[in-house]
Amino acid sequence: MNAPIESLANKPDEQLQCWPDGSLRHLLTLQNLSANTIVTLLDKAEQFLSPGGSFPKRSDALHGHTVANLFFEPSTRTRASFELAAKRLSADVLNLDVNTSSRIKGESILDTIYTLQAMQCDVFVVRDAGKGIPAYIAENVDEHICILNAGEADRSHPTQGLLDAMTIRQHKPDLQQTKVAIVGDIAHSRVARSAYFALVALGVKDIRLIAPPELAPDAGDYPEACLHQTLASGLEGADVVMALRIQRERIQTQAGQPSAEQYHAEFGITKERLRLLADRAIVMHPGPMNRGVEISAEVADGPQSVIQQQVTNGLAVRMAVLSHIIENRRSQL
Ligand code: CP
Repeated sequence: MNAPIESLANKPDEQLQCWPDGSLRHLLTLQNLSANTIVTLLDKAEQFLSPGGSFPKRSDALHGHTVANLFFEPSTRTRASFELAAKRLSADVLNLDVNTSSRIKGESILDTIYTLQAMQCDVFVVRDAGKGIPAYIAENVDEHICILNAGEADRSHPTQGLLDAMTIRQHKPDLQQTKVAIVGDIAHSRVARSAYFALVALGVKDIRLIAPPELAPDAGDYPEACLHQTLASGLEGADVVMALRIQRERIQTQAGQPSAEQYHAEFGITKERLRLLADRAIVMHPGPMNRGVEISAEVADGPQSVIQQQVTNGLAVRMAVLSHIIENRRSQL
């Protein structure tokens, strides 16, 4: 892919992702997605949960459809859960092995998509390090095709934002009164951005972003949030703390960046620091975790951690999104 992708999509993501009646065709971003749509997706996801140890929920909502997973960046949680979600909804599933695909030989992403479109793949789950790729694809595919953003550069990870909102809502149903602290590399985090859009839409009023200056977001990126430079001020009385990994793969020069030890000393979520939080506060992490850096192993595995619940919810959210967009598509075509 040689052209500057971001300039190729003519419309903003939030317009591109909807059918003319406003219902969701693709899922590209949570920015400006209505609270109503988010709540519909979260409520639907709750229906796909079943008790641990029981058989997972299944449905034939995607029977006859083919979901292609195209992950041009590493992933464990998102890729595995989209695959399981599609299979549990009775879709055919293709996992393209990127390292042996013709993209390595210089084939453009659109030619890859068109090739798979010709094999009647009709839902594409895309993760890419380039900004604007999911929207660019969405703008250029046939009308019956749906694109789901599975992680786009530092910009957007909408299903992660939904699963984070779902997890917070399960523990803190009074969202308007809930204080959420997001700690770490906010500047390069698509997770923080998507969580922020979901939480603002759902009425969360107290969102704190805690980061050292070199990992803080640009001014104006998070207008509803309050920025903090220390854990002591940002964690005080919070009901939720979400620790983020430093996205070293997105940082051009490591000069001036904190070492793992420095970072843990100043910003790591440790058992002692949990005392700053409100009673019954929960600890979240999107994964993958660097234990001993942004979070101690003791906290990650401790009683306040909901990290595994986030993973479980991630699968349910992806089932909800897949079934929702296919249901919408049926009523349009
Ligand atoms: N949270 C997240 O996106 O994890 P993966 O990179 O493993 O998919």
